[in-house]
Amino acid sequence: MRSLQFCYPILLHLFLFHLLSDFSSSLPLCRHDQSSALLHFKNSFSLNTEASEWCDIYRNSPYPKTASWQNGSDCCLWDGVTCDTISGNVIGLDLSCSWLQGTFHQNSTFFQLTHLQTLNLAFNDFNGSPMPSHFGGLQSLVYLNLSQSKFAGKIPSTISRLSKLVSLDLSWNYDDLRIKPIQWKKLVQNATNLRELVFSGIDMSSIKPSSLSFLMNLS
Ligand SMILES: *[C@@H]1O[C@H](CO)[C@@H](O)[C@H](O)[C@H]1NC(C)=O
Ligand SMILES: *[C@@H]1O[C@H](CO)[C@@H](O)[C@H](O)[C@H]1NC(C)=O
Ligand SMILES: *[C@@H]1O[C@H](CO)[C@@H](O)[C@H](O)[C@H]1NC(C)=O
Ligand SMILES: *[C@@H]1O[C@H](CO)[C@@H](O)[C@H](O)[C@H]1NC(C)=O
Repeated sequence: MRSLQFCYPILLHLFLFHLLSDFSSSLPLCRHDQSSALLHFKNSFSLNTEASEWCDIYRNSPYPKTASWQNGSDCCLWDGVTCDTISGNVIGLDLSCSWLQGTFHQNSTFFQLTHLQTLNLAFNDFNGSPMPSHFGGLQSLVYLNLSQSKFAGKIPSTISRLSKLVSLDLSWNYDDLRIKPIQWKKLVQNATNLRELVFSGIDMSSIKPSSLSFLMNLS
């Protein structure tokens, strides 16, 4: 009997441990379609340290975040991925400085991640890809950062659909990344919560100074 009594604290401990692990396993897991979209996205790029060579190594230390992503594990636990704790949807992705190199396909499965609220792909090398128009379908985005990621050409007109944006950073991509005045106007009219706009290095020569005056009201 005596030895059994001795065991009680240990049994209690095990019991509590079970309760806690049951609790954590009842949190929603990453949804299958979203983990598959992320894996396809991962596999569409090669990893190359040079792709993130301009990353600020002191503040953001570049390393390949997607390298640890494994099919079959809960994608909510993957490096750079944030899920909503109630729905399990992927709502945040920070793959800045992650060595990604290759073409960003227009039809990428990436755009199935329609619950994204924050997205940072800064300091990768998308190799002069045109910015896919499907970015405009990620309408929950509040924060979008595509700084120094080597996109080129016209900023798609669909960008003005991102009406919830608070922060948009498209700085220092290819020199020919540009926005048409009409699209600029629509973006500014639609994204009424915009507080931070970083367009350094973007060709805005076709935009009248008067339509830039709204910048003064930011910050
Ligand atoms: C993940 O694994 C499952 C089962 O093994 C397989 O059917 C699926 O194609 C894999 N997904 C990817 C993106 O590799
Ligand atoms: C996207 O299109 C390219 C060619 O434009 C094709 O090679 C690729 O398989 C397509 N990917 C998907 C996910 O449909
Ligand atoms: C403004 O944003 C809404 C909601 O995202 C969208 O449906 C609409 O098309 C946008 N307007 C323009 C001009 O892009
Ligand atoms: C965009 O991301 C880079 C790298 O993480 C960071 O240095 C920069 O400050 C970000 N821009 C904004 C507007 O947050």
